[in-house]
Amino acid sequence: MLLSINPHQPEPEIIARAAAIIRQGGLVAFPTETVYGLGADALNETAVRGIFTAKGRPAYDPIIVHIAHTADLPLLAHQPPAIAYALAEAFWPGPLTLVLAKTAVVPAAITAGGPTVAVRCPAHPVALALIRAAGTPIGAPSANRFSHTSPTTAHHVWADLAGRIDLVLDGGAATVGLESTVLDVTTAVPTLLRPGGVPLEAITAVVGEVRLLTREVREADAAAETLASPGMLERHYAPRAPLHLFTGADVAGLGAVLATAAHQAQAAGERVALLVADEDVPLVAHLGVPVVAVGSLADLAAVAHNLFGALRELDATGPTLIYARDFPAHGLGRAIRDRLRRAAATVHG
Ligand code: TXA
Ligand code: MG
Repeated sequence: MLLSINPHQPEPEIIARAAAIIRQGGLVAFPTETVYGLGADALNETAVRGIFTAKGRPAYDPIIVHIAHTADLPLLAHQPPAIAYALAEAFWPGPLTLVLAKTAVVPAAITAGGPTVAVRCPAHPVALALIRAAGTPIGAPSANRFSHTSPTTAHHVWADLAGRIDLVLDGGAATVGLESTVLDVTTAVPTLLRPGGVPLEAITAVVGEVRLLTREVREADAAAETLASPGMLERHYAPRAPLHLFTGADVAGLGAVLATAAHQAQAAGERVALLVADEDVPLVAHLGVPVVAVGSLADLAAVAHNLFGALRELDATGPTLIYARDFPAHGLGRAIRDRLRRAAATVHG
């Protein structure tokens, strides 16, 4: 079932229906400021297993637990360090997820059997009202089938999960459009596990140094048989068509490179579809192929907001190839570039 809900002032009777489903162990997809989540009672192991089944998600990939107040953190996290409270104070409610040592109440299914739990307080009235009304923390991954692009509208959720879950709350398009930043605060220096809606620069302004998951760190973790962030090993955000990403030091000039390549691909008989910046549109408009401009190179918030929808929209045109351009590396650009690289890395068969 799909129910519309006011994203600013959620109707109490709709929240009550959704909360009852959560309390009974059911699955409700709901809007957050980042992407839509697929929620279940985080403290109900059977309900949490239902999330994995609905998504087709492997059990080794742990799930973020959503709370409505920082005050609920100690329920889930064992002796949260001061740095966690400093980050919560700065960014909650908002698109930052903290990885902490878990307490005994957190079921193993949520943490994939691991000793840590990921916690976030989302900045969305519907999400917050649902958590409060359910009276329990809500475990929620992005509400897409495993390895698909994260949903930024209820329509995306419906396309992936209709018939597999109890309810979708339609609160309009997610504002941020990219998932939360995941930061591990169990390490001496906090470790960035996933770039996301809170830019790295904003985090370092609060905590000082942040450790980045470089190839060397990943290899050392693999050697020690620890997986810092299991979900990040997967190929994600995958359109059906192969995606070729145009990268280079001269980011502004990538539109021209992509335009030339698109023309050649077209001449070679490919059905090519293009993900570009607003500035590139005059360079590709004459090709007569599907084009989605996701925003200006100078407005990375717009690019983040539009990116996942653009991937789904381009894929729906039935291309044999998607050409995408890269974006500047600062601010939200770090997360945008990460998602584009994951989409491009996908092996198609
Ligand atoms: O913005 C978001 O974070 C959205 C909304 C719904 O809150 N959720 C989301 O969940 O993106 P999901 O499951 O698609 O991504 C969660 C990421 C995965 O990469 C997972 O491996 C990582 O967080 N994660 C979860 N628990 C973890 C833990 N205990 N330790 C390390 N990484 C963890
Ligand atoms: Mg996901």
